[in-house]
Amino acid sequence: MNAVKPDNKVEILISAAEIAGRVATLAENIAAQLPPNMMIVALLRGSFVFTADLIRALHLVGAHPQVEFMALGSYGNQTASSGDVHIVRDLTENVAGRDVLIVDDILESGRTLTFARDLLRKRGATSIKIAVLLEKPGKRMTDIDADFVGFTISDKFVVGFGLDYANYYRELPYIGVVTT
Ligand code: IMP
Ligand code: MG
Repeated sequence: MNAVKPDNKVEILISAAEIAGRVATLAENIAAQLPPNMMIVALLRGSFVFTADLIRALHLVGAHPQVEFMALGSYGNQTASSGDVHIVRDLTENVAGRDVLIVDDILESGRTLTFARDLLRKRGATSIKIAVLLEKPGKRMTDIDADFVGFTISDKFVVGFGLDYANYYRELPYIGVVTT
């Protein structure tokens, strides 16, 4: 049987053009702080659209990152994560001795990024920085901050540009708020 897409109204919060402009600036900031041969560790699934745009913006400012993916999961419902983060799909390359940029879609409680940062640290990464497209302040449950933040948004559930609701809406070229 075919899955049925939820029938929500989605209002544009951040347009595609705004995102593009911000991603270009983030790439400049990242290239100024990390070596050109950084290793990007993109956290699946939410960050794949942001990562795809970010690496092309990084190319334009002279960086040539390697790109790795790691899927992390946390048990919970569709709009809130629980505390228990685990590896769903691991990296295929060694991060020891590398300058790593972890890329994620959104920093909320911080549990996902804290897990990822601690794991890569244990595996011997030389340095670890964090880039997120979005950040919701005031929701942090762990002591973590991103080094590069696209947009700080209020506490609303957002979709698009890789972010999902029940694994839908990732294809939207903008960030939207689910209103119903
Ligand atoms: P954290 O571990 O609580 O910081 O949660 C981060 C993860 O929760 C993100 O990688 C997203 O997958 C998910 N998440 C948090 N807020 C939203 C949202 O507003 N829309 C879609 N996914 C979200
Ligand atoms: Mg996610």
